[in-house]
Amino acid sequence: MKKTRKRVAILISGRGSNMVALIEAARARDYPAEIVLVVSNRPGARGLAVAKTKGVATTVVDHTGFATREAFEAALEAKLAAAEVEIVCLAGFMRVFTRSLVDRWRGRMLNIHPSLLPAFKGLDTHARALAAGVKTHGCSVHFVAHELDSGPIVMQATVPVLDDDDEEKLAARVLEEEHRIYPAVLRLLAEDRLKIEGERVIVAGGGKRVDLSPASPKP
Ligand code: GAR
Repeated sequence: MKKTRKRVAILISGRGSNMVALIEAARARDYPAEIVLVVSNRPGARGLAVAKTKGVATTVVDHTGFATREAFEAALEAKLAAAEVEIVCLAGFMRVFTRSLVDRWRGRMLNIHPSLLPAFKGLDTHARALAAGVKTHGCSVHFVAHELDSGPIVMQATVPVLDDDDEEKLAARVLEEEHRIYPAVLRLLAEDRLKIEGERVIVAGGGKRVDLSPASPKP
């Protein structure tokens, strides 16, 4: 019997490299999710053109065209409903949602953030990690909750901070890990293997393994 794949929308505001990682992963025959729609709140987002070249439907819901956050979100959710979207992946989507939208998508909306949460929420995470002198940095995929860059963490990947790092070098090292863990997390969610218990996410079939990240240890 053919298994149905979960219908996923990716929300972007810019470049869309995580979007590409998800689209590419979903091309695999055994991947449990399909990317049915890419939505941008910015008409000029570079990722829109990239999604089109990959054959994925795109749409723009420009937040500047709405008088209120609620009106913007109603238009956005109408697009998601029309495409029968079941899971939403935020991938460099730079708008904050209202509490009611977050509640409606609880457990079905993921975000990727370029730091080891709860450290360095917000913007300029790599510059702030360098300034703070941390030796280990990384990225997190988490369920979206009310507060910005918070919510139950599903997976994290770490990278070393090297002595000759600048923001750009560190960002590139982290981004590589983002592209690995986001598709891995979407797979787990689409397979219904994630259970939220308070702030923790339990992975069914995860056994005693602490880190399910596909990232192999760095030499
Ligand atoms: C990524 O590094 C993502 O983690 C970050 O924006 C970048 C988008 O890049 N997201 C956040 O900072 C969310 N708080 P991309 O458009 O190439 O995927």
